[in-house]
Amino acid sequence: MLTSALDGIRLSIHILAATIWVGGQFTLAGLVPALRSAGEGVANIAARAFAKLSWPAFAILILTGLWNVATFKMNQTTTAWKIVLGVKLLVVALSGSAAYIHTKAKSPRQNAIWGSISGTTAAASLILGVFLAG
Ligand code: HEM
Repeated sequence: MLTSALDGIRLSIHILAATIWVGGQFTLAGLVPALRSAGEGVANIAARAFAKLSWPAFAILILTGLWNVATFKMNQTTTAWKIVLGVKLLVVALSGSAAYIHTKAKSPRQNAIWGSISGTTAAASLILGVFLAG
């Protein structure tokens, strides 16, 4: 059965934003060695340019995520679904917080730790979202 046009738009925007927030972090991480070898500061310039895309994408994920939740009739969802949603919200909050702390990191070690927490929790949010969608 085809999904309705409005549901298709809602989920497509949510998923498009997820590709930027999640896929962008992995892509940037993979490009960092090449950017570093291109010159001092190049990786930082690329990271700042990515932030101009990734933070709006994160905001869109929250807005369309709320829209997703609003389409579900809570009394018709299972306890397991609600638990997965709760865990997803915690993981989303962690992903955003870790990404923010990552931008303020004072050492390469902190940078690597918070960057990997942000990427891992972003991927976990995506996986939990797939389970929510059923
Ligand atoms: C890092 C942030 C997020 C990522 C990467 C993400 C990713 C995803 C993905 C990939 C799906 C699966 C769509 C599908 O398979 O059709 C999904 C579904 C869903 N997401 Fe998110 N999401 C994020 C944030 C949020 C937030 C903040 C909320 C709630 C406020 C939310 C609520 C939902 C719900 C309820 C679904 C199921 C939608 C449906 O089946 O109609 N998401 N998410």
